Amino acid sequence: MPAQIIDGKAEAQKIYADLPARVNAFRERNGRPPGLAVVWVGEDPASQVYVRNKRKKSEELGLASFKHDLPATTSEDEVLTLIERLNQDPAVDGILVQMPLPPQVSEEKIVHAISLDKDVDGFHPENRGRLFSGRPRFVPCTPAGIMTLLQSTGVALRGKKAVVVGRSLLVGKPVAMLLLQDNATVTMCHSRTENLDAECRAADILVVAVGKKSCVLGDWIKPGAVVIDVGINRDESGLCGDVAFEQARERAAFITPVPGGVGPMTIAMLMVNTLKAAEAREEINRS
Ligand code: GUN
Repeated sequence: MPAQIIDGKAEAQKIYADLPARVNAFRERNGRPPGLAVVWVGEDPASQVYVRNKRKKSEELGLASFKHDLPATTSEDEVLTLIERLNQDPAVDGILVQMPLPPQVSEEKIVHAISLDKDVDGFHPENRGRLFSGRPRFVPCTPAGIMTLLQSTGVALRGKKAVVVGRSLLVGKPVAMLLLQDNATVTMCHSRTENLDAECRAADILVVAVGKKSCVLGDWIKPGAVVIDVGINRDESGLCGDVAFEQARERAAFITPVPGGVGPMTIAMLMVNTLKAAEAREEINRS
């Protein structure tokens, strides 16, 4: 029997169902909506689509959306000055700087400059450290979305072998921490891993976040596995993930499609983190 498709759009809708009431209640208590600043530096076409979708969704939910589009030639100091202004702005609860940044702007310096309580991406080194120690404040949006999709399958992670392919700071490393937190036995694979096919074949839970079409082949999937495909690649027929979907689907028990799997969840989790940031700042201001 082919795998059940994990419907990221439907799961995201379940999350959105609770948000308008929280947004309205916040607005009534504070006389302003929660605010999200989305900063985009440069011209990366994929980033443009992601940034547009994030802004669109925040406006749909009634958040205040602060738009900052900077040219690819912007200096690191100029980005840092903007971040400092957003840190000080009481109407801004969350700050997201879309990655990747142009080469003259250090991603590490930028994420370090974002106020801890506005770091809705969870990329500040302290927030990354908290995730590592099992006490996260803001969980990065894509890893948080992946965990919600895994939960939606009803498959218990405890004691299962989870294999993460890709060791990025955005997805691979944080999702490995979250899987570990849920008591999976986690293996991290990357471009230098030997016998990647054998590692994948042993996985009860397989998370692939590489950014390369057909990086994982269909016959590498353990029968009955849960497959989460984080890749978004463009080919002649449109968007595709990192996993050879049609073949993998014949073996897996559950699999995410691309598009319509992880992508919608990333945005939903960003909205949740923004509301969380707004409500937490409200608490601090009250006390
Ligand atoms: N680029 C790709 N994914 C992300 C993300 O989740 N947040 C940011 N800021 N940039 C990204």
